[in-house]
Amino acid sequence: MIPDTLKQELNQRVAEAVTNREAAVDVMKALQRHYGWLTDEAVLEAAEILRLSPLQVEELATFYEMIYRRPVGRQVIHVCDSISCWSMGGETLLDRFAALLGIEPGATTPDGAFTLLPCCCLGNCGNAPAVMVGERQYGPVLPDDAEALLAELRNTPS
Ligand code: FES
Repeated sequence: MIPDTLKQELNQRVAEAVTNREAAVDVMKALQRHYGWLTDEAVLEAAEILRLSPLQVEELATFYEMIYRRPVGRQVIHVCDSISCWSMGGETLLDRFAALLGIEPGATTPDGAFTLLPCCCLGNCGNAPAVMVGERQYGPVLPDDAEALLAELRNTPS
């Protein structure tokens, strides 16, 4: 259960929105920050705050790639696999991250530090191949840059 202060903050966000759906991503992201991922409990809480059905929240959650409906690592590395990044070596970059982390794309490292996910266009095509971790964009990230970026992320509080 989320603290009352967070619930009040989110109710305020919904009250300020033109439609409840407009506030949905903010509400789901806030709950995700609290729980680490959008748990079933969080879906019910989001539904109550947004005055939507749990199914409607579920539909919204599955639409947004940055909302996680299963446990993820403390940091999620999104590697863009859309056309600009793919043409600039994004696939090789994803493979490099996977090799360095010792996991397949879509998986989480055994220590829970990282989840590696391919994703759609991050809107950073001019800096392809692009990567996003949390709210932060990186690019261009070349395969040879992957090890240094992981070292940086390991030293970054999640
Ligand atoms: S295609 Fe990768 S950021 Fe747009």
